Amino acid sequence: MLISSVIDLQQQLSSLRKDKSIGFVPTMGALHEGHLSLVRQAKADSDVVVVSIFVNPTQFNNPDDLKNYPRDTENDIKKLELAGATIIFTPVEQEIYPEPDTRIFDFGAMDKVMEGFYRPGHFNGVAQVVDRLFKLVQPHTAFFGEKDFQQLAIIKALVAQENLPIRIVSCPIVREPDGLAMSSRNLLLSAAQRTHAPLICQTLKAAAAKVSSTTIPALKKWIQTTIDTDPVLETEYAEIVDARSLQPIVQWDEAEQVQLCAAVYAGSIRLIDNIRLK
Ligand code: PAF
Repeated sequence: MLISSVIDLQQQLSSLRKDKSIGFVPTMGALHEGHLSLVRQAKADSDVVVVSIFVNPTQFNNPDDLKNYPRDTENDIKKLELAGATIIFTPVEQEIYPEPDTRIFDFGAMDKVMEGFYRPGHFNGVAQVVDRLFKLVQPHTAFFGEKDFQQLAIIKALVAQENLPIRIVSCPIVREPDGLAMSSRNLLLSAAQRTHAPLICQTLKAAAAKVSSTTIPALKKWIQTTIDTDPVLETEYAEIVDARSLQPIVQWDEAEQVQLCAAVYAGSIRLIDNIRLK
């Protein structure tokens, strides 16, 4: 069922909510197998699956990025119907933001690093829209991909801060056969950029294999050099962090779980990926 107004959404959900569990997958469209894996997970877990498609302007710190973000709603709807979504919610901006959202969220040190550092205001915009969508849909469970590793941590923090009774389920990264993490932005890559992009995940995997034989500063340097030697790719950051606090570490024993997160430009297209190191 395709719904674009908040009133219709709430009407449908209020009757369904009485005796059914509601799973929610928020998206910005341009859907790929990664999104569809979230929808499948939601279907396996919940009676009703709501998927939203909304390109949220408040999370774009760069107006060109917002303008160029891939949009393909007609195909998205077909894919979601095939994947078995119960409700596809496609609001216009006015439905989500009848008034400008001026709220400032505080995630402490968590959003000052990596994506938060290089895309100032990005996570505040993500928190604004996800909080609004959560309050409209009131799901029992919401599903997010681990490709956006920092986003997942921010959303868990948001749910805790706002005391929302929502279970957050994280789903593994889905990769192309050559290893490239699936992303809507992959559609923007030229054919030449696309052939170079798998070096990102190859380098992260090779880095994971080196953990026991190197130091963190040496490994970070190796990752950056390996990627930047490629003529098309340029590392913005390759950070090794405590997987819980997202804070960079310098010694392997500083954290129980350690994640390597990277943002890399292929021309003007910015790609992110991450891997567990420990
Ligand atoms: O991960 C995304 O696609 C977006 O950040 C989200 C969670 C749908 C919020 O706009």
